[in-house]
Amino acid sequence: MTDKRIISRVMEGNQKYGLLTGNCEDILASIPENSIDCVITSPPYWQMREYSISEKDCDSVIGTEKTPEEYVMRLTRIFTQVQRVLKVGGSVWLNLGDKYHNKNLMGMPWRVALAMQEDKWILRNDIIWHQMKGTQSAQDRLRGVHEHIFHFVKNKKYYYDADSIRIKPSKLPIIKGKEIISATGVSGKKYRRQILTSKELNEDERTQALKALDDTLEKIRIGELVDFRMTIRGTQRTYHSNNAKISGRAKELETKGFFILTSKAKGYLPSDVWNIVPEDEWRKDVHYAVFPTELLQVPIKATCPIGGIVLDPFMGTGSTLIAANQLDRIGLGIEISEEYVKIAERRLETPQLCLSI
Ligand SMILES: C[S@@+](CC[C@H](N)C(=O)[O-])C[C@H]1O[C@@H](n2cnc3c(N)ncnc32)[C@H](O)[C@@H]1O
Repeated sequence: MTDKRIISRVMEGNQKYGLLTGNCEDILASIPENSIDCVITSPPYWQMREYSISEKDCDSVIGTEKTPEEYVMRLTRIFTQVQRVLKVGGSVWLNLGDKYHNKNLMGMPWRVALAMQEDKWILRNDIIWHQMKGTQSAQDRLRGVHEHIFHFVKNKKYYYDADSIRIKPSKLPIIKGKEIISATGVSGKKYRRQILTSKELNEDERTQALKALDDTLEKIRIGELVDFRMTIRGTQRTYHSNNAKISGRAKELETKGFFILTSKAKGYLPSDVWNIVPEDEWRKDVHYAVFPTELLQVPIKATCPIGGIVLDPFMGTGSTLIAANQLDRIGLGIEISEEYVKIAERRLETPQLCLSI
């Protein structure tokens, strides 16, 4: 089937995945503009790996550039094309690792991220992928165990299904008659006493603080919140700074006399540090740097609607497409190595080979 045919079948939703063999710098031009919901990808890092590429494609492979500047320029150019194919509300999740050159850590991920910001991308998150293990090669520095995953968008308003990725609270409040005890054992009695005996609050502030405390306890009773902490002027410290010019909380404390932090019952969003061991499901001698399925969940669920299209322009052996299919999205992949495309096809056709999400 021609690339054009594969792309149109994917766009029409007639195919669960589409595999395009070749240089993404050329192939991206045949994808219609404003058609992709989300891009998740890991290009080869600068001068890091050798992939199984035929001789004729060696110059087209990313990562072989002589200088970091050339690498950054080439990647940025590719992502300008990605910007064209991405929907207005679309997202890009870009995984990059760093590189030592002449003993000097090059800061490659951030070089790329800053260049992309210059190219109008909006950076929403720098996720630290803590890989939990790493080999020690040098004896005069610490072991490197993290990579970066940058979340970029092209528009300030973008598709983000926060509820699909919330982490549910592990503990629930206890309600005994009129007594309400939050998930971490806060009943509000201590705060009530502090408000009533405070010499720092005026009468109006005292009334407002008691009302806010009662309202919060009521929200716990009806199941909207699971936990809270109250900070009252002159009793507790603000978290970051007591300077109202620096901290919004300190300002609230100065103007209202108190503030309340709450935990919602519907759960909280994952943090920007992900502890995920790299995948060893697929054979390491066949391909390096396979995305772990766990890593793909948040990007796909949060930034691609069900039935939408996830693109990986540096597909490797197809992990992004497999995860997209498992989560009822369509996957489109571009890969320069014919060998990896064949492996990807085999993996996509035999899902029992892959870990499920
Ligand atoms: C880090 S690997 C991606 C691995 C992938 N995330 C996975 O889970 O299998 C990068 C891939 O980009 C491919 N590649 C390098 N230059 C390319 C180019 N110009 N166009 C398309 N693919 C390219 C390499 O062959 C390699 O398979």
